Amino acid sequence: MDLKGIILAGGTGSRLMPLTKVTNKHLLPIGDKPMIYYPIEKLISAGIGEILVVTGVEHMGDVVGLLGSGKDFGCRFTYKVQDEAGGIAQALALGENFAAGSTIAVILGDNIFQAGLKEYAEKFEARHNGARILLKKVHDPHRFGVAELADGKVVGIVEKPDKPKSDFAVTGIYFYDSTVFDIIRTLKPSDRGELEITHVNQHYIDKGQMAYDVLEGWWTDAGTFESLKRANELVAKDPPK
Ligand code: G1P
Repeated sequence: MDLKGIILAGGTGSRLMPLTKVTNKHLLPIGDKPMIYYPIEKLISAGIGEILVVTGVEHMGDVVGLLGSGKDFGCRFTYKVQDEAGGIAQALALGENFAAGSTIAVILGDNIFQAGLKEYAEKFEARHNGARILLKKVHDPHRFGVAELADGKVVGIVEKPDKPKSDFAVTGIYFYDSTVFDIIRTLKPSDRGELEITHVNQHYIDKGQMAYDVLEGWWTDAGTFESLKRANELVAKDPPK
């Protein structure tokens, strides 16, 4: 597959202190593996062999020590350091040279889910331009980017809204064409001082180039104590495909 994979595994993990005081959130255990193994295995089983891992400077050594070249996983890893936590879109911008004009599948390193990615990746590749996001119905949409749907289309996304317009969270699994890097260059920091992935997605919506699927099976993030516990329970009960 032409598609390349990017795993965003930076951030301070502040919501999981003190678990993240001396290590990166994505190295914490879920079931019998470090968290970051889950998105890696998803990309590989979708047929993606080139994977970029972006993480902060503090724990890059540990991440490289854990993952190595990719030989043990049957893929090839590239690494990029995000000097300061400046948002998901800022981290993604570091992948421009790696992508080198290819389409990309991006997974936030704390997103753990049951379904395989292959079917979604193939649907995206069949169109080969624009973007594709995966949505999931949740009971607490205010914690996420929330999609507004009309006539079978995503017409807007609001990041962590007080009054969500639907129950559909935008999961941290995204497919983009190579124009994503031009879009990121036009972004301005949000009120919380970050370059928001939600603003990237809104650009594609405004251009009429956003497609979506509803993700099958269970999905959770793992960035809070509650969701980390939930991820452990889900993985134990019903292991990812
Ligand atoms: C990020 C995104 C949000 C998305 C979520 C999925 O939020 O900003 O749109 O719904 O990931 O996990 P964060 O977890 O960084 O607060």
